[in-house]
Amino acid sequence: MANETLPKWWKEATVYQIYPASFKDSNGDGLGDIPGISSKLDYIRDLGVNVIWICPFYKSPQYDMGYDIADYQDVHAPYGSKADVDALIAGTHARGMKIIFDLVVNHTSHEHAWFQESRRSRDSPKRDWYMWRPAKVVDGKRVPPNNWRSNFGGSVWEWDEPTQEYYLHYFAVQQPDLNWENPVVRKAVYATAVNYWLDKGVDGFRIDTVNMYSKFLDFPDAAVVDPSTPWQPADKYYSNGPRLHEFLKEMHRECFSKYDVVSIGECPNTPNFKDVLPFVSTQEKELDMVIQFDLASLDHGGGELRLWRRDWKLHLFKAITEDAQILAIPEHDAWCTTYLENHDQARSVSRFGSDAPQFRVQSAKMLATYLLTLSGTPIVYQGEELGMVNMPRSWDVEKEYKDLNTVDYMRELRRIAGDDKDMLEKGIYSAQMTARDHSRTPMQWDSSPNAGFTTAKQTWMRVNDSFTEINAAAQEQDGSSVLAFYRTLLKLRHTYKQLFIYGSFELSEPDNEDTMTFIKRHEEDNALVLLNFTKDDQPFVVPSRFKGRPELLISNLPTAQKHVLRPYEARIYINHDAKTMTNGV
Ligand code: NOJ
Repeated sequence: MANETLPKWWKEATVYQIYPASFKDSNGDGLGDIPGISSKLDYIRDLGVNVIWICPFYKSPQYDMGYDIADYQDVHAPYGSKADVDALIAGTHARGMKIIFDLVVNHTSHEHAWFQESRRSRDSPKRDWYMWRPAKVVDGKRVPPNNWRSNFGGSVWEWDEPTQEYYLHYFAVQQPDLNWENPVVRKAVYATAVNYWLDKGVDGFRIDTVNMYSKFLDFPDAAVVDPSTPWQPADKYYSNGPRLHEFLKEMHRECFSKYDVVSIGECPNTPNFKDVLPFVSTQEKELDMVIQFDLASLDHGGGELRLWRRDWKLHLFKAITEDAQILAIPEHDAWCTTYLENHDQARSVSRFGSDAPQFRVQSAKMLATYLLTLSGTPIVYQGEELGMVNMPRSWDVEKEYKDLNTVDYMRELRRIAGDDKDMLEKGIYSAQMTARDHSRTPMQWDSSPNAGFTTAKQTWMRVNDSFTEINAAAQEQDGSSVLAFYRTLLKLRHTYKQLFIYGSFELSEPDNEDTMTFIKRHEEDNALVLLNFTKDDQPFVVPSRFKGRPELLISNLPTAQKHVLRPYEARIYINHDAKTMTNGV
């Protein structure tokens, strides 16, 4: 029997993702912190999740909210101390949960001692720890080695005046890319950033931009798609370079294989199943699962401005889901993640459901049903369990949104739109629908000022006005809340784990643009999941492949009509005599 059919703790995990700046402030400075997270561990445990992922809390100048790390072993002082991190690890374990950290080793901060040393001189012993290249000269002028546009705007190359060379940064200027070609760098990364924490009892990592370590060293120019700027999108060159799988195997060997931990790699620009499988196939010994981007990009248009697509198509949503689910079938010897939100995505209710008052709760529960009945490891992002929504459209994007990606977006939008008011409006609307900022507003704990997130008057980012209505305290008291629904679904996920976690996935009516219907199956048992993605009534039929007498397990509405799903209705049926299968973790 192949390995993959063995149960693993991380296959049966549900991950709860925490954004430290916005989760809970313990010391009244308006910014979330580590003791704040520790104070909410009971809430997290009671939700029914069993793994916590903490976004970067390390020492950092915070150009990219901590994804620019200046010291892998130190803590950003406003978030707390090393002792606070130790207490968080211990507190999580004491409650029977596991904890994973964010591993960001494609790049460091420009303030990291390694980079400081590297840029000191061309003869520095650490010069080769980053990607330095000489300038090209075109028409007598100095230009960067190629025309790639960085993920946050401008060239991927930054000129260093004192040493007269460019360094590479796929993200911000303050995030220089490490040179993974150098074995000494890799060793240092494994020792300082990875094994240091695994030795302390951390249960694994979510691994940032895991497929960007190996560069295409000839740095070819990207095709010119926007002649109005020298910097062209180069997505296909950022990821999956020639030595990537070799590096990942080495990291597995030197780090993960030595512990009972989980590795979840963030894997952008890799839409094809055949390219994903090598990362996660057990036999390849690289990663346990990856975070794919296809669903998260479904409503982003193409072109420089990636304008929001209101008309995203449900048949594609289903096809993408099916592609990921296939990774989890035993023959593939692999595993996948499912998620609808994270700190880089707007709120799913506002994008894929409806945040209109009459549909918000229903559609949040419908999306929860999708998320928690699929195979793979689900990742729930803080506030998703409350049905938190995007920031109001009345807020000024250029004033209230803080993310450097949004700042870059607005700069580009103004450049490209010029006097074109219509385009400007469309671009702003896109930011209002998809900006990363939407998920970064403070967690809504209760209806007191600033949502009980802090005692400070001023918060680092404005609290979403919706907090008086959408907050954890109110939902704790309400058996029909989104929170209560999450708790129930998470219990059912484990009661029927052979169906929901390990069962096969069979999609019905793949072309239906209004409803999603699928069966999860294990031997003689099956579950039928029905989801209405529209604000209208929709007919449904029980697929003939469903076996046995259907019994309603849960629904997001109090009464179920025979052949009609109400707006955003979700139902799960199981066969009447389905066995519960909770044994063995
Ligand atoms: C992906 C992270 O999720 C995102 O927040 C960050 O900006 C980039 N990687 C760069 O580290």
